[in-house]
Amino acid sequence: MLYLIDTADLDAIKKCSEYFPVSGVTTNPTIISREKTDFRTLLYSIREIIGDDKMLHVQATATEADDIVREAEMVKNVVRGNFYIKIPITREGLRAASICKDKGIGVTMTAIFTQQQALIAAKAGADFVAPYINRLDNIVSDGVRVVEEISDIFKNYDIKTKILAASFKTVEQVHKVSMSGAHAITINPDLFDMLIYHPLTYYAIDDFSKDWESVYGDSRVSDLLK
Ligand code: G3P
Repeated sequence: MLYLIDTADLDAIKKCSEYFPVSGVTTNPTIISREKTDFRTLLYSIREIIGDDKMLHVQATATEADDIVREAEMVKNVVRGNFYIKIPITREGLRAASICKDKGIGVTMTAIFTQQQALIAAKAGADFVAPYINRLDNIVSDGVRVVEEISDIFKNYDIKTKILAASFKTVEQVHKVSMSGAHAITINPDLFDMLIYHPLTYYAIDDFSKDWESVYGDSRVSDLLK
């Protein structure tokens, strides 16, 4: 499973990609607008931090198919490298997705809340579908179940489209989605830290240190092997 960072905060992207095994960055208009900065420069900077090989998903804001395609081409020209245009699932979005694919532009169909939205997006040629887990859970639906069923449908029909699950708030959601057939998840930087936190890990590290120091004092492994 691939982990992506769901932010446009440059410091957070830098820190997160330095410490965690991330495969790219996802953004949406809300995430971009939080940075209150020049859009083009922000995109350049994200690409500079993550390099050309990692995925960068950027969302179109247009609503008509031809305009979405034009935005996709423009964003692709700016960010280059491993790029996917995010398009919300609408009739116009579906048409735009097919055209983008014909033009060789990667497509992530986003704002997915149902299994049929995902299947139709896949049939339109989307490389990724992005179901929104927490927003489903918030309306007393079941984000994990939706991902499981999308995964089953894709397997049934040998569909190659990948599931890039988005909108997470808890470690439990990430854990369950990682067992549900999703290929990738995108999460905010804070959630990366929560994924690896466990108090028993720190107890264990403390015990290791105490035992080591009882024999070797302040000397480290590197001191003793000089
Ligand atoms: O990028 C889409 C998704 O991650 C949105 O998440 O937290 O706004 O529901 P959220």
